[in-house]
Amino acid sequence: MASSVIAIDGPAASGKSTMARMLAERLNIPYINTGSLYRAIAWKALKLGIPCKDAARIADMLETTRVRYAVPPEGGNPDIEIDGAFPGALLRTQEVAQGASDVATLPLVRRFTLDIQRDAAKRQLVVMEGRDIGTAIFPDAAHKFFLTATPEARAKRRLSQGGETPDGATVASVAAEIAERDRQDSERAVAPLKRADDAIFIDNSGLSIEETLQLLLKHVKGNES
Ligand code: DC
Repeated sequence: MASSVIAIDGPAASGKSTMARMLAERLNIPYINTGSLYRAIAWKALKLGIPCKDAARIADMLETTRVRYAVPPEGGNPDIEIDGAFPGALLRTQEVAQGASDVATLPLVRRFTLDIQRDAAKRQLVVMEGRDIGTAIFPDAAHKFFLTATPEARAKRRLSQGGETPDGATVASVAAEIAERDRQDSERAVAPLKRADDAIFIDNSGLSIEETLQLLLKHVKGNES
């Protein structure tokens, strides 16, 4: 039987978090953001002064770290609980994002996070978003999507989040940075970002949020009937 997971993978700024959250809301099922798991590990390491690339010290730290997805006291989607606390918004800083990117390349961290992610989908159908959900975590997911957009489209979205219309040169320079990060993420030895052979590929460069959502819903509902 397929795992009770709708997997949404894709590169940074591809719109997958927005899409995963909206899809879960429409289907009335939980949304699980797996980036938070790597961020929580980095957050604890940074608090303890442990460099996020130091495999031996991160391994020691994880021996006494308890992490799981749980519904926070205020309700809503399951969120990361680490050593009994919900760090929530504290995980969204640039420093933690960089640390997450470092710890995510350590094989021991990927082994540590595997069961935590699998446990999060044990009880019911969930939408799970990340980089390797459809390939490494749930190769037998009920539905798999790989969401992406051109580096230019992603650069424009990221820049316009600040409410301004970016000029062509700024878009081009951010698009070049995004393309370079894609290359690194796809070529790294550990858990590279790659589309599962059986994932539905959606390039949403020219699509609105609602159009992309309708496309996902069509596939999910179509496969049910
Ligand atoms: O999606 P995000 O920015 O919160 O992810 C934080 C970091 O974790 C990012 O560098 C990619 C990494 N990550 C990963 O390697 N595998 C996942 N399933 C999710 C995130």
